[in-house]
Amino acid sequence: MAIGVFDSGIGGLSVHRRLVERFPHADFVYLADQANTPYGGRSGEEIVDLTRAGCERLFAEGCDLVVLACNTASAIALRRLQQTWLPGIRAARGRPTNVLGIIVPTIEAATGLPWEHEAERRGDKVEKLDVLAVFATPATAASRVYEIEIDKRRQDVAVFVEPCAELAGQIESGAPRAVLEAAVAGHVANVTRRIGRAPDRAILGCTHYEIISDVFRAALKPGTPLVHQPDATAEALAGYLERRPEYAPGTDAGASGRRVFLTTGAPGLQHDLAEAFWGAPLRFDPA
Ligand code: DGL
Repeated sequence: MAIGVFDSGIGGLSVHRRLVERFPHADFVYLADQANTPYGGRSGEEIVDLTRAGCERLFAEGCDLVVLACNTASAIALRRLQQTWLPGIRAARGRPTNVLGIIVPTIEAATGLPWEHEAERRGDKVEKLDVLAVFATPATAASRVYEIEIDKRRQDVAVFVEPCAELAGQIESGAPRAVLEAAVAGHVANVTRRIGRAPDRAILGCTHYEIISDVFRAALKPGTPLVHQPDATAEALAGYLERRPEYAPGTDAGASGRRVFLTTGAPGLQHDLAEAFWGAPLRFDPA
C-alpha cells in the first residue's frame, strides 16, 4: 500500500518531505489540488467536498492511508469525513482505510513540550505564561480548533491565532520574496500587538508557511521556538503505524519507495520558490 499525502497545493510538501525521510521504503503519492487552491477562504462545504474528492483520488491510486497535509482540510473536513463517509468507503474497499489529520499531532507536540516562561515574580509567586501564536488560514482560524484543542489539554497556554488571508495563495503562486516578507512582518506585528508582547512560541498552522519558515523566523523575535508540524506529524504517524500493523507501509512485497506527484492543476515543473524549498526541480503529473 502507498501513503497518500494531500494538500491544496505545494504546502503539504513540507510534511511529505519529513514523512519520506522517516519512512524511506514506503510508497508515497502526493496530490496537490492546485485547480482549487487556496482553500483558506472557501466555505466549509466546499472544503469538505474538495477534501473528499482528493482522498477518493488517492484511494484510487492505491493509498490505504491518507495524511491531510493541510491544516484547513484537517480543521474543517476531517471529522465529517471520518464520521459520515469513511465507514462506507471501508466497506466498499474491503480493506483497512483511513484519513489522518495534522492538527492533533501538532497540538500534542505543542502541549507536551516542557516550556515555561517566567513572566514576572511577585514575592514568592512565579507567574508562568506560555503565549503561543498560531499563524493560519482564515478557515482554520474561524474553526477555532487550535484554541479549543489546546485549552482541553493545557490551561496555562494562551493561544492567539492570526488569520493570514492572502499568504497561502501568495506562496502557492510563487510571489516575490519582498511581498512575502512584508506580509509576514505585518502578521507578526498584528499578533504581537494583540498579545501586548512577543509570543513565546509559534506554530506555522498552514503547511504553506513552512515553505517560508525562514521569513517567519526573521520576523519573529530572535530565537522564538517554532513547533514543527512536519516532525510532529511524522512522529504521530510512526506511533499510529506501530499500533496499526495492518498498514505496514514499506514492508509489503510491492513497496518500492515509489514517489508520485499529482496535481489537479497545470502539470509540469513547479515554480522557483517550490524548487528552492524542495532542493531540486519538481515535476507534477496530471491527477
Ligand atoms: N496548506 C494548507 C493549510 O495547511 C492550505 C492553504 C490554503 O489552501 O489556503 O492550511
